[in-house]
Amino acid sequence: MEISYTPNPNPATPEARDAVLAAPGFGKHFTDHMFKATWTADAGWHDAGVIPYGPLQLDPASAVLHYAQEIFEGLKAYKHADGTIRAFRPEANGERLVRSARRLALPELPVEDFVAAVEALVKTDRAWVDDRPEASLYLRPFMFASEVFLGVRPAAEVTFMVIASPAAAYFKGGAKPVSIWLSSEYTRAAPGGTGAAKCGGNYAASLAAMTEAAEHGCEQVCFLDAAESKYIEELGGMNIFLVHRDGKLITPELNGSILEGVTRSSILTLGKELGLDVEERRVTIDEWRDGVADGTITEVFACGTAAVVTPVGQLSWDGGSVGDSSAPAGEITSRIRDTLVDIQFGRAADPYGWMRTLA
Ligand code: COI
Repeated sequence: MEISYTPNPNPATPEARDAVLAAPGFGKHFTDHMFKATWTADAGWHDAGVIPYGPLQLDPASAVLHYAQEIFEGLKAYKHADGTIRAFRPEANGERLVRSARRLALPELPVEDFVAAVEALVKTDRAWVDDRPEASLYLRPFMFASEVFLGVRPAAEVTFMVIASPAAAYFKGGAKPVSIWLSSEYTRAAPGGTGAAKCGGNYAASLAAMTEAAEHGCEQVCFLDAAESKYIEELGGMNIFLVHRDGKLITPELNGSILEGVTRSSILTLGKELGLDVEERRVTIDEWRDGVADGTITEVFACGTAAVVTPVGQLSWDGGSVGDSSAPAGEITSRIRDTLVDIQFGRAADPYGWMRTLA
């Protein structure tokens, strides 16, 4: 893929950039440039370039605005002590985007082009990758149907973009425990649906339940399987792990309706390295609820690119709760989080070759 480069004539001043980097929050501020490429049925992928960050002009009849053909990724780049900027497993995100594209009948972007796009943007906006503790640059690649057409069929014109946003912790409390609301009214995904794809629609479908969670004082929602309302699937935007008192690390198995998290798969690898007995299997909500109550389940944590590894303090449902929302992160949760972030920030060796130098 040939990538053109159009510099932003009005980039943020160093002072303005530094003010953002001092307190970036999550997903609120964006760098000076973005990546954009177009796909058409006739010409394939073309017109790839790094261009000034700014609003898009979209025809109101663009297919995505009506039928939600949109998929996305989330990954992070980190500044290492030697000055290099490295991304965590970008190929894994590129591979997942290909799988999501197949499910949403969007065109496949080759993984090497995905990585080249991310690299071009990070190289251009490298000044936005900060070296303050735990700072990172969150990268958001996404693809949508930009064809101007109201018929329901796979689009003949599609846009792929990457934007970048300096990031601090996703949850306001940093690595403090979060509370989870168990949704009994809503499900996120059904067998044969789009649950395993990273598409905007899955997140849209989670928001009514997230609102319900917030009304009950919880930061996140947990969804059960659509068929039996019995098995834990995932949270609104992250996967979940339980730690058993006997040293087992348990996460719901991939069943077609759970997102194949890159952080989830990395934790399965790290868990084995840390000597834990790792299990991917069906997990009932009773196992979680009763296990926390009787002490069999000693720790619960959520994971994702944005959330990294976030301890879960309490599970609440209509009529009760277990756990302690103010309990500190458990020992296994902290060890897994530290092992992972030390690799990501270059403070520990990278035995799996997960870090890719971009700039
Ligand atoms: C991520 O963790 O990167 C995601 O895409 C989840 C989103 C809720 C921020």
